[in-house]
Amino acid sequence: MTQTLVEEQTVKSRHRVRTYGEVFTPRHLVDLMLDLVRDEVESGPDFVDKTFLEPSAGDGNFLAAILRRKLRAIEQRYPTAKWSQESLFAIASIYGVELLEDNHQEAKAVMLAEFLSFHQSHGVPVGADTDLYHAAQFLIATNIVCGNMLTGQTLTGQDIQFSWWNRVAGSPGLVHREPFTLVSLHGDAIDFTTYDSYQACRIDEVHKEMRADV
Ligand SMILES: C[S@@+](CC[C@H](N)C(=O)[O-])C[C@H]1O[C@@H](n2cnc3c(N)ncnc32)[C@H](O)[C@@H]1O
Repeated sequence: MTQTLVEEQTVKSRHRVRTYGEVFTPRHLVDLMLDLVRDEVESGPDFVDKTFLEPSAGDGNFLAAILRRKLRAIEQRYPTAKWSQESLFAIASIYGVELLEDNHQEAKAVMLAEFLSFHQSHGVPVGADTDLYHAAQFLIATNIVCGNMLTGQTLTGQDIQFSWWNRVAGSPGLVHREPFTLVSLHGDAIDFTTYDSYQACRIDEVHKEMRADV
């Protein structure tokens, strides 16, 4: 019997290890760590909406593994008709910050690939011309930010802004976007940011960015 060993790349270069502390966690360790928070990720009440923030997202290995588990649990616990909506709420619950642009691009790409492959495996149309694709891509781009977790700023010096994606009570499938800055989470200073405000909308149309003030 031939055994094929696939080695995972955990280091890109010595320079990056020294300068940015970049060493990726291997897949089996990611899985062992996520086993410790099974309730929050996949088996407890309201698991779809339990939020996760990866403060040094690297190439997205934790982010994609969290999404994979949430999607698998949605498949097992929700009727088929709810999969599209719930899979978007699952993406909306996962946040990341990453300093290096190439890693940031990879992290977003692996999240989208995970989402697309879930739906493709069930024969759901998710081509680049569908709302499902655009909504997923938009949520990923809004939740996974290129910036510095230590300063709370993007590479161009803006405050990193995230959004809560709140479900609208009594209206399944509707979401209400509520922006906030990363630094505001510390809660020890008055937040003077002027935030955009949004209308509640279907989560699969969230990329249309319907403003409340226009
Ligand atoms: C040890 S790696 C971990 C990557 C991933 N979390 C994993 O476990 O595989 C650290 C990552 O944090 C990023 N990083 C370093 N300093 C950062 C900062 N101040 N803010 C955000 N990301 C940072 C690096 O570019 C690198 O991708």
